Amino acid sequence: MNLVTSKETNSPSVTARLDLPLGFLLLLAFSLLAAHRALGASDLDGAWRMDVPKPFGVTTRTFLVLHREGNALTGMVYPNTAEERRMLNPHMEGQNAVFSIDWGWTFYVHRAGANLSVTLKPEGAEPIQAIAYPISEADMRPPSALPLPAVRDIPDNGLVRTPPMGWNSWNHFAEAVDDRTVRETADAMVSSGMAAAGYVYVNIDDTWEGAQRDALGNLTANRKFPDMKALSAYVHGKGLKLGMYTSPGFVTCGGYMASLGHEEQDMKTLAGWGVDYVKVDWCSASRVYADAELRRVYQKMGEALERCGRPIVFSICEYGRGEVWRWGAAVSGNLWRTTGDIHDSWKSMSSIGFDQGRLASYASPGHWNDPDMLEVGNGGMTNTEYKTHFSLWCMLAAPLMAGNDLRSMSDETRDILTNREVIAVDQDALGKQGTRLFALNDIEVWSKPLSGGGQAVGIFNRGAEGTTAPITWSRIGRESKPSSVRDLWQHRDLAIADEGLSVEVPPHGVVLLLVK
Ligand code: GLA
Repeated sequence: MNLVTSKETNSPSVTARLDLPLGFLLLLAFSLLAAHRALGASDLDGAWRMDVPKPFGVTTRTFLVLHREGNALTGMVYPNTAEERRMLNPHMEGQNAVFSIDWGWTFYVHRAGANLSVTLKPEGAEPIQAIAYPISEADMRPPSALPLPAVRDIPDNGLVRTPPMGWNSWNHFAEAVDDRTVRETADAMVSSGMAAAGYVYVNIDDTWEGAQRDALGNLTANRKFPDMKALSAYVHGKGLKLGMYTSPGFVTCGGYMASLGHEEQDMKTLAGWGVDYVKVDWCSASRVYADAELRRVYQKMGEALERCGRPIVFSICEYGRGEVWRWGAAVSGNLWRTTGDIHDSWKSMSSIGFDQGRLASYASPGHWNDPDMLEVGNGGMTNTEYKTHFSLWCMLAAPLMAGNDLRSMSDETRDILTNREVIAVDQDALGKQGTRLFALNDIEVWSKPLSGGGQAVGIFNRGAEGTTAPITWSRIGRESKPSSVRDLWQHRDLAIADEGLSVEVPPHGVVLLLVK
C-alpha cells in the first residue's frame, strides 16, 4: 500500500499511465488487503523494548521485532541491542511465542495489556522476567558511524613478548564480578602460587560500566566498583596488573556503556585509573560499521591507546572476523580472538583448539592468536580434558587467561594451571605457535618449535577410548634419536629406543613431551 501511494505521488509517469477505473480498482484492492492485514495482525506484532534493570543501577535493553500469522512466527532479536540475531525454532506453546537465538537465549513471550510479558532463559543461568514495551522501529536505530582514520600501521607497543598470562572474570563470574571478587582474586593469584608461575593480569570483563557518563563525558563504573583507582592500586600492590574491557560500539555485548565517539577519552580514563590491559570487544560495532571497516575501527582504538600516556596491552576481540590475524599487529594489537566464545565443554574447547594450527604463521612475540580464555576448573570437563585444554593452549602459544574462581579452586585445578614445565612451552622466547604434524584416527600429534633447538610434542587423543600411539622420530621431524624426551605432566625423563617411543594416551587426554 505504502509503496503504491508513494509511487503515485512521486512518479507522475506511472500515474499518467493509469486510467481512472484501473487506478481506482488498484487502490480498492490494496485498501482491502491492508484492512485484512490490520484485522489479522496478531497481538504480538510490532517492535518491542525489553528492559532488564540490574541491582547495581544499570538497565540493559533488548529489542524484539515480532510478526505472527496463525502459528507461524517470524522476527528478529537484538540481544542487549548489541547485535542483530535471527530467531531460531520459533513456535507457539499455548499462549506463549517461544524462540531462541544463538546466544543460548530462549524467549517465552505473551501479550499482557499494552505490553509483552517476557521470560528470558539464558542457558545455564537463572531465568529473567521482564516487560517489553511497544516502540517504533526508528527507536531501534543504532547511532551513525563516525569518521575512521585512513589505514596506516601503528608502531608495535613493545608489550607481551611472550603470551600474556592472567585471569579474566567472564567465564566464571560474568555479571557477578565486583570489586571484592577482583581483590580476592588478586590475593588468591598470589597465595595459590599462580603469580609465581607467571600469571600477572587480573582482568575485569564486561558489566563493570556505569549507567551513564559523568558531566564531562567520562566513562563511569557502576555500583559494583565504587573506586577504580583504589582497586587498581590494590592489584598493583600485590605486584599484579589490572585489565579492563570496553567496545568500539555504542554498547558492550552485555548491553553496557561503550566507547563509540569517546575512544580517546575512554583510553585516557583507563590510563588514569592505572589500567594495564584492555580488551576491546566488537559487539554493537557490528550495528554501526561494516566488516570491511573492522581494521580502521580497531586502528582508531590503537591510536587512542597510543595517545593515552600509559603502556596498555591491546586485546582485540572480534571473534576472528575480517581475518584479524592479517592486520591485528598492524593496528598495534597484542592479541586477537580467532573464534567465537568458548564454553566449558569438551566439544567447544576441542573444536576451537584443534582448529588453530592454520593460523600459526601469524603469531610472533607481542602478537598472539587468541583462541579465547581458559575454562580449566570451571566444572564442565574432567581433569584429563582440562589438561588437554591447557596443553593445547600452550602448544598454540595462546594467552593463558584463567577463567575459573581462583579463590576456591581444587588442588588438581591449581596443579594444572601452575605446571611450570607446561607453561614454559607457552612462554618460550621463540614465540612460535605449534601446528599439527599429523592425525591418525583419533590421535593428533602437534609440534611447537622452542628456542635452543628443542621442540614440544603434544600427542592428543580426541577419541573416547584409550589408545597407544607409536611415535617414530622421523614422524616428529627428527633425523635421529633425540638426546632426551621428558614427559611434562609426569615430570620425568622417558627411556627411548633408537626408532621412537610408544605412549599410552587416555580418552580425551594428552601426553606432552619436551624433546631435545
Ligand atoms: C563477548 C566476548 C566474551 C565476553 C562477553 C562479555 O561475548 O567474546 O569473551 O567478553 O562478550 O559480554
